[in-house]
Amino acid sequence: MSRVIAIIGGTGPAGAGLALRWARAGETVIIGSRDAARAEQAAETIRKRAGANAQVSGMENSAACAATDLLALTVPFEGQAALLKQLKPAIRAGSVLIDATVPLATSVGGRASRTIGVWQGSAAQQAAELVPKGVSVVAAFQNVSAEVLNGDEDVDCDVIVCSDDPDATQVAMEIAVKIAHVRAIDGGRLENARIVEQITALLIGLNIRHKGHGGIRITGLPDGAYKRTGVVTR
Ligand SMILES: NC(=O)c1ccc[n+]([C@@H]2O[C@H](COP(=O)([O-])OP(=O)(O)OC[C@H]3O[C@@H](n4cnc5c(N)ncnc54)[C@H](OP(=O)(O)O)[C@@H]3O)[C@@H](O)[C@H]2O)c1
Repeated sequence: MSRVIAIIGGTGPAGAGLALRWARAGETVIIGSRDAARAEQAAETIRKRAGANAQVSGMENSAACAATDLLALTVPFEGQAALLKQLKPAIRAGSVLIDATVPLATSVGGRASRTIGVWQGSAAQQAAELVPKGVSVVAAFQNVSAEVLNGDEDVDCDVIVCSDDPDATQVAMEIAVKIAHVRAIDGGRLENARIVEQITALLIGLNIRHKGHGGIRITGLPDGAYKRTGVVTR
């Protein structure tokens, strides 16, 4: 059964792009923001694009956390820790939190094609340290360009999903493949997020160099390693 997906920081391009794709696939989505009015405005824009039946609403971030147990986190690295500390009381026990945060050097005034070191190993591992006990953190979607998500073309990307909770990995893989043409791959433990996050900096550098919106495809694994669905989202 589908669960409502709340996107914390869903007013930005990454969160709004995921919301658009999930809304087109028939999922119920809540856009979270620090400001309820901004969330509702972003939800309205997505509803207009996703079609009359789209189920997208907007809420302040803590209300969005309280409303469901499936969360996606799409905020800049510099805001991630403080926001999670603030939201901690609102995050429901047993929730799955899918973190797309990349610790880009832009968070300290540096280049988007570089990352900064995170003591815990990755932004996702930092998130895991900050959520309430019993909440499972999954790292995913760091390598999918918001530009592509917000467009109308199919998303020609693989999504590598990393978590220490195999059930949470399955949940994230299921919602990843709601996006047409996305394949989800179990990337193992959450500590592997440190590698996946670095790939984003490489992709940003490639996109600047070649003026594109590159993603990744992993080749050569057995068929069973790739989760895919035939969902058509447009
Ligand atoms: N853009 C991409 O192509 C892409 C692709 C993959 C992964 N990512 C990662 O996904 C995350 C979001 O990317 P984005 O480009 O959508 O970022 P963004 O536009 O800079 O931020 C997204 C939203 O986060 C909220 N926010 C901003 N600063 C915040 C702070 N200090 N504290 C709490 N909330 C804050 C804002 O929403 P409100 O003001 O409404 O609260 C904003 O609309 C980043 O970590 C990025 O590295 C991005």
